[in-house]
Amino acid sequence: MRFGSRIRRRTKNEDDVRNSMTNEICDDRSETLAPPSPALPPPGGEGRGTAGVDAGSERQSTRKFIFFCKTFDTMKKLAGKVAVITGANQGIGKAIARAFAAEGARLALCARSAEKLAQTTAELKSAGVEVFSQPVDVTEEAAVDRFFAAVLERFGRVDILVNNAGAFDGGRIDELPLSAWNNVVGSCLTGTFLCSRRAFAAMKDQGGGRILNIGSISAQRPREGSAAYVAAKFGVWGLTQATALDGRPFGIACSCLHPGNVLVERRVDSGQASDAEPMMAVETIAEVALTMVTLPAHVNMLESIVLPVEQVYLGRG
Ligand SMILES: NC(=O)c1ccc[n+]([C@@H]2O[C@H](COP(=O)([O-])OP(=O)(O)OC[C@H]3O[C@@H](n4cnc5c(N)ncnc54)[C@H](OP(=O)(O)O)[C@@H]3O)[C@@H](O)[C@H]2O)c1
Repeated sequence: MRFGSRIRRRTKNEDDVRNSMTNEICDDRSETLAPPSPALPPPGGEGRGTAGVDAGSERQSTRKFIFFCKTFDTMKKLAGKVAVITGANQGIGKAIARAFAAEGARLALCARSAEKLAQTTAELKSAGVEVFSQPVDVTEEAAVDRFFAAVLERFGRVDILVNNAGAFDGGRIDELPLSAWNNVVGSCLTGTFLCSRRAFAAMKDQGGGRILNIGSISAQRPREGSAAYVAAKFGVWGLTQATALDGRPFGIACSCLHPGNVLVERRVDSGQASDAEPMMAVETIAEVALTMVTLPAHVNMLESIVLPVEQVYLGRG
């Protein structure tokens, strides 16, 4: 059976995740920020996201998020820490930014789209979060180096790097253009190398830090028609292990979070068979990312695989 070709009925939770995502995308009010606790899906079940919220409860959620960001600073898990997050203007990266901010982190964010990045930055700042952001293409060495120089100038340190930026471009291997290969391998793998190199140097000087790479279950179980993505994510997993090994003498931990299907904007009603499969909310992945970066400094969760219970992954296809 081909991946994604199976006809199945969506669960209530998946419908809730999809409905909430559609609501958020259709709602262009810039004040739409986050669920009540940005790191956690609301009670009632995995992956419910902001299910079924109306305009009034959205505003209430935003107020709660702002309240959470502005209070109890010293009790927060990332109080005062500087976290760099790539690809932070939408999807998983933006959810991680919200989750870290709610735990007191100071943020340095990048992505290519200046407009979306400015919008995300404004949303976070309006909640009282300290944010520095710069449009950066992580495949460009000089741009990455300038960004990290600016981050160090602004904050003086980098405690956490989340290499989240990535792109998917498919096609069977005999039909895969080199431009698609370069885009995917560049954003997922070369970008992770270029950002890790700069963050590692800063962390070495300051006596430690954490690098979290966003991999994929495609780093373990390939889908057909995704040679570039699979190769890039296998590379990210290999780079994670190499970085963790190089970081050992310097107190630098490096780990990899492999998500299964996560419902982000581009996967809503895309018409792709894989986008009709079981899904998780972005908040779920953000919660795992937060757990991985808030372990005691001498402990590293090297790898985590997080996927919907019903997602086809184990077994023979
Ligand atoms: N969603 C899933 O089901 C899923 C599953 C497994 C793994 N992942 C991984 O999770 C990460 C985030 O994915 P997502 O689903 O949230 O995707 P997304 O919504 O498409 O977000 C990708 C982010 O990366 C940025 N980006 C892409 N190319 C870039 C480049 N060259 N330089 C700088 N920023 C770049 C994008 O912003 P700009 O376009 O403005 O640059 C955007 O902020 C990716 O590494 C992806 O492979 C996702």
